[in-house]
Amino acid sequence: MRSSRDGKGGSLARDGQGLEVSNANAEAIAALDFVTREWLAFGNRLPEFVAAADKEESCAMLPLIAANLMLSMNSAEGHESAKRYLARAKAMAAGANARERAWIAATEAWIAGDTPAAQKTHEDMASEWPRDLLSAKIGQLHAFGHGDAEGILRIGERILPANAENHYVYAMHAFGLEECNRLDEAETAARKAIAMDRRDPWAHHAVAHCLEARGKMGEGVAFLQSMSDTWESCNSFMYTHLWWHLALFLIDLDRTDEALELYDKRVWGVWKEFSEDQINAVSLLARLELRGVDVGPRWTDVATYLKPRLHEHFSPFLDLQYLYGLARAGEASAVTEMLASLEDRAEQAKPFEREAWADCTVPAAHGLAAHAKGDHAEAAPLLGQAMPHLKPIGGSIAQRALFGAIHLDALMHADWNDAAMAILQADERERPTVAATKRALAGLYRKVGRTEQALAAEYQAEQLARRYRAAQSRATGATP
Ligand SMILES: [Fe+2]
Repeated sequence: MRSSRDGKGGSLARDGQGLEVSNANAEAIAALDFVTREWLAFGNRLPEFVAAADKEESCAMLPLIAANLMLSMNSAEGHESAKRYLARAKAMAAGANARERAWIAATEAWIAGDTPAAQKTHEDMASEWPRDLLSAKIGQLHAFGHGDAEGILRIGERILPANAENHYVYAMHAFGLEECNRLDEAETAARKAIAMDRRDPWAHHAVAHCLEARGKMGEGVAFLQSMSDTWESCNSFMYTHLWWHLALFLIDLDRTDEALELYDKRVWGVWKEFSEDQINAVSLLARLELRGVDVGPRWTDVATYLKPRLHEHFSPFLDLQYLYGLARAGEASAVTEMLASLEDRAEQAKPFEREAWADCTVPAAHGLAAHAKGDHAEAAPLLGQAMPHLKPIGGSIAQRALFGAIHLDALMHADWNDAAMAILQADERERPTVAATKRALAGLYRKVGRTEQALAAEYQAEQLARRYRAAQSRATGATP
């Protein structure tokens, strides 16, 4: 810590990023440096920072960061706790500098549900104080929550020049590039971060997204497996999400048994009360079922943890996955209650969130509930109505793809053949290496009497499947 007098009798200290912090002693600075590293590393020691924030009596930045951490939990308790931390921070905020006042404004906006205002403040902060990496991280989190890929990228671009020595910043930049479909640049930035420090999970994550988008599943499995020894110190979101990504690659390689095993061993069970763990579980079970896997009684356990969330509505992206999990578990009364609650939430939507809640979430939720019951003729048009409005609900491209896959499944079962074919052909163009897409196309061609095309697609699917098996044998040293 570098510290000096500020000329008014107050103490002026700087954190490890060189940012001025008001009323901070050496312990407060150490706690801020610790939480910055730990948050950027998606570490599992964040409770240690919360304990420091609880003890702090003069430095407003500690309870302020704690408030943001609580808000990022997406839970009612987290939200209430954030209000208490913000009140404590404001009581310590006499003499706060401009950056700290911006933090207070952004936190107030988040608590009030005005996340675009919070994002705007963090974007401005990224220009004004590009060394404030936690501010940038939270700004990207808000942009992610709005499906605002350009916003994620903008923040990465603003902080990069002032942090060229910091691998976490290359990873933050990489994810924005990937979500804007600038895959080559994204992968280069992420691999640069890994070259600087191979233990950067957000960089692993960005590479996984790039490989997923290009249908490079074999490479994805090998890459993630080669990095997985570094994930033990990750928090439950990052840990379960990276294994979730590995499971997606396995599913597309027809290795669904291994994906289900990962679900049991890595994806579900780390922190069952946490929103992010829950959606990783829902999304993985749903994707396995769409490939014909019997997941047994697993939905029942997940639904136990989803039931307290019927009226939360922190994010339409989370809510839709909670609802689908409940519906697949056969929790009919919880589904009915949540559907009504979602309709109320959509009616109260502010202008900036109307598209997400009213145009997407309400029809999508009804469509997902119908699909979960096997009522495909009802599900297909409802999901079709929601699909053009999907982006603003938030989440990544790979995560939102779940809803497209369920929509496609409904279309195929309801014999909306032309619509299903258009989607499958687009999928095939985008990721021509996925055998399951070709099999689905073959089934559809056969259904509409296009036998030659069906035979060609079946042949290609078998060639791909053979290639997967040969590559796996080479990797494991087994005989094909
Ligand atoms: Fe991801």
